[in-house]
Amino acid sequence: MRYNLKHKIMVIKVCVGSSCHLKGSYDVIEQMKYILKKYDVEDLVDLQAAFCLGFCSQGVTVKVEDTPNVEKMPDGELFLHNVNKDNAEEIFAKEVYPLLNL
Ligand code: FES
Repeated sequence: MRYNLKHKIMVIKVCVGSSCHLKGSYDVIEQMKYILKKYDVEDLVDLQAAFCLGFCSQGVTVKVEDTPNVEKMPDGELFLHNVNKDNAEEIFAKEVYPLLNL
C-alpha cells in the first residue's frame, strides 16, 4: 500500500452563494483547478465551494485559510473579491502563492 505523505496546508473556498454563482463562481472554480495544477500545488491546497461569505456586492469572493505564512496573513484568513476566470491566475500568483512559503 502506498501512502501520500503530502498534506494540505491551505484551504481555498470559492463562494457559490446565489450572487457569486450568477457572477461566475463555476468558472472561477474551474480556473482555480487549472491554476493549482499549473503551479503544482494541487496536493497542498484544498479547493472547496462555500456558501455565502457575506460580500455579495463585491463580485465572486474567495476565502483563503490555513496558510503556513502567518506573518503575511495574521488574521488567519484572507478574502479576495471580484475574482473571475480572467484575473484568477494573476490574483493567485500575487496574493495566494506567496502564502504557501514554497
Ligand atoms: S453570495 Fe458570495 S458573498 Fe454572498
